[in-house]
Amino acid sequence: MKILAIDTATDETSAGVVEDTKILSNIVWSQASLHAKWGGVVPSLAQRQHEERIDWVIEKAMKEAKVKYQELDAVAVTGGPGLAIALGVGIDRAKKLAKKHKLPLIAVNHIEGHILSPLGIPKTKKEIANKLGFPAVAITASGGNTTLTLVEKIGKYRVLAQTMDDALGEALDKGARMLGLGYPGGQVLEEMAKEGKVVYSLPLPLAGRRDLDAFSYSGLKTAMLRLIEKKGTLKKTDIENLAASFQDMAFKHLINVSFRIISKHKKEGVKDLLIGGGVGANIELRKRLRKTAKDLGLRIWFPYSKKLYTDNAAMIGVAAYFKAKRNEFVKPEKIDREARAKVDGKFSFEM
Ligand code: KG4
Repeated sequence: MKILAIDTATDETSAGVVEDTKILSNIVWSQASLHAKWGGVVPSLAQRQHEERIDWVIEKAMKEAKVKYQELDAVAVTGGPGLAIALGVGIDRAKKLAKKHKLPLIAVNHIEGHILSPLGIPKTKKEIANKLGFPAVAITASGGNTTLTLVEKIGKYRVLAQTMDDALGEALDKGARMLGLGYPGGQVLEEMAKEGKVVYSLPLPLAGRRDLDAFSYSGLKTAMLRLIEKKGTLKKTDIENLAASFQDMAFKHLINVSFRIISKHKKEGVKDLLIGGGVGANIELRKRLRKTAKDLGLRIWFPYSKKLYTDNAAMIGVAAYFKAKRNEFVKPEKIDREARAKVDGKFSFEM
């Protein structure tokens, strides 16, 4: 089954073509440099850039996949969560293409895309989705989401924990900004942290709240700001050590909370852990997640390419393939953007 997928959830304009779970193309036009000078995503700028780039990424995705419109079985698009006016651009284009080429339309939850991103495979590889056991668990850490999800089966999710304030990627971006490392800063922070040592004692978020199944990064962020203010001028080694200390605590929190909650669900027969989202590209985090999985006796699944971690359309295509198999299509006149869509429910237009 060949699907053209489109994602315009926030600041990446992306289109990709999948054949079942095989990724034939995955074109991502990142707007990061455009938003950099504002220190975060500016919705109106994002919308304009999506409008300008959407046709280009779609045509490039079709060309690279060597697929013609008449060979497609469906068009898929992110319905949410994300920035409403950004989502609208992708939805509009997907609707038009579906109508023009008389193709069924599939609406995908962006977080489901991240959850299932490790199931995407290069076109020369054999299917891996059938190797997954259920229930599984998924950790999704991106710029907009930090979620621990129980995957009862593909398409049926239960959120076990999510952030009460900032997402992990957002917190890393803000920490990086405090250190003058620009935006988005997760990757630069990682590079700095590699050179530094964990010498500063920052507070472990929600340390005294083992009763709370949630993540929180606002306290850590404030503590980091105070520390930086107290230090005054920063030398390169200070920046490296601060980056290492901040990243260390942010990851410790993610792992500790996830470990505790997953342990509770082990008796339900959880065997697999899926990792997705931009922060998953961090090598130190992956190392720690591998160890966590080993300690919990779980198999761990990462996306096969760097592009599949951050926002991209191919992961939407993979999730769409499973929705198509379940006959979960949506009428073009019904589909609408849903900025706060939840991964453990349906879109309201699907109900
Ligand atoms: O999945 P994604 O594109 O999410 C959203 O846009 O919501 O991920 C982007 C996030 C940013 O916060 C970025 O700083 C972070 O992922 N990120 C990283 C790394 N690469 C990207 N964070 C830590 N280490 C990295 N190597």
